[in-house]
Amino acid sequence: EKGGYDHFMLKEINEQPETIFDCLRGRLIATTGQIIMSGIDNNIDILVNAQRIVIVACGTSWHAGLVAEYFFEELCRIPVEVEYASEFRYRNPIISKGDVIIAISQSGETADTLVALENAKEQGAFIFGVVNAVGSSIARLSHAGAYTHSGPEIGVASTKAFTGQLAVLMMMGLKIAYAKGTIDHNRYVELMKSLESVPEKVKEILANVDTIKAIAEKYKDAKDFLFLGRGYNFPVALEGALKLKEVSYIHAEGYPAAEMKHGPIALVDENLPVVFAATKDRYYEKIVSNVQEIKARKGKVIAVASMGDEVIPNMANDTMFVSDIDEVIAPILSVVPLQLLSYFIGIAKGFDVDKPRNLAKSVTVE
Ligand code: F6R
Repeated sequence: EKGGYDHFMLKEINEQPETIFDCLRGRLIATTGQIIMSGIDNNIDILVNAQRIVIVACGTSWHAGLVAEYFFEELCRIPVEVEYASEFRYRNPIISKGDVIIAISQSGETADTLVALENAKEQGAFIFGVVNAVGSSIARLSHAGAYTHSGPEIGVASTKAFTGQLAVLMMMGLKIAYAKGTIDHNRYVELMKSLESVPEKVKEILANVDTIKAIAEKYKDAKDFLFLGRGYNFPVALEGALKLKEVSYIHAEGYPAAEMKHGPIALVDENLPVVFAATKDRYYEKIVSNVQEIKARKGKVIAVASMGDEVIPNMANDTMFVSDIDEVIAPILSVVPLQLLSYFIGIAKGFDVDKPRNLAKSVTVE
């Protein structure tokens, strides 16, 4: 049942080239410039005319929502808010008729997300579900939706469901932006092609598993980790920290790299590994300076860098490479080495990564 792997988590990480492919298959057709998603096609006017998009989710799914915030705002020019379901449901939020709520959930059964949606639905919001579990409560409650088609996720720490969520949300953003006229045809096709190239590029990352395993061995005894990223890679830093906490019980924090100066930099010394999601994008020069700041304080830098980059790998103590890709699509690649890093640290420490203590696969109580 684990398909020859030691753990579901590793199996599910390794399945990502196929699960992402399955998610895109039959939907994204770059050669003809089409993205076919009935949940969107049937509601395109509502989505294009949305005054605001509110994304509601928990945990890893909330991180997928944060990535979506960046590209929905950039590509569709629609204001986006990303809410923790547990906070949203209790604080009497303002919901208006033109609001579109996007619910993101692997299980489709998370209690806080479900109740937040019920409340928003009563107030007249349009609910779009990005869900993995077919026929689940959140899928049924939504007015429309798109499944992630990632297959059953058994490992408690979410991996393939996250990249499936990103793939669905990216197709959604592209479709809405193109229908709205906020991106031109060339950019639309360029991003479709980038997205189409993801499964192959994930395979390349998975082929370098030995490097990542060695890095895990080297840092497994650290007491704390810091994860930093900017822009599209900021949510990846949060997700990297969450994965590490879940499966290795090492304290880890994710931060926007520039926020470091406002507090966390006080933690940096020769015992602190700092993981940078530092692929080539518009923030590259800035992130290079942030890496220098950590090095100057003797922190150990582990970088996720773009293949071909020489500057960051030269400064970093250790580097995990990912293929160069459009920055909008980058998170779906840069998260993969971080999933593997957490997995191998958890294993090296002898923990049951598939069933971390205190965690449940689906949180059906508040
Ligand atoms: C992290 C993880 C949790 C879930 C969260 C939401 O690895 O698995 O943080 O992401 O409980 O669950 P879903 O997506 O099922 O609503």
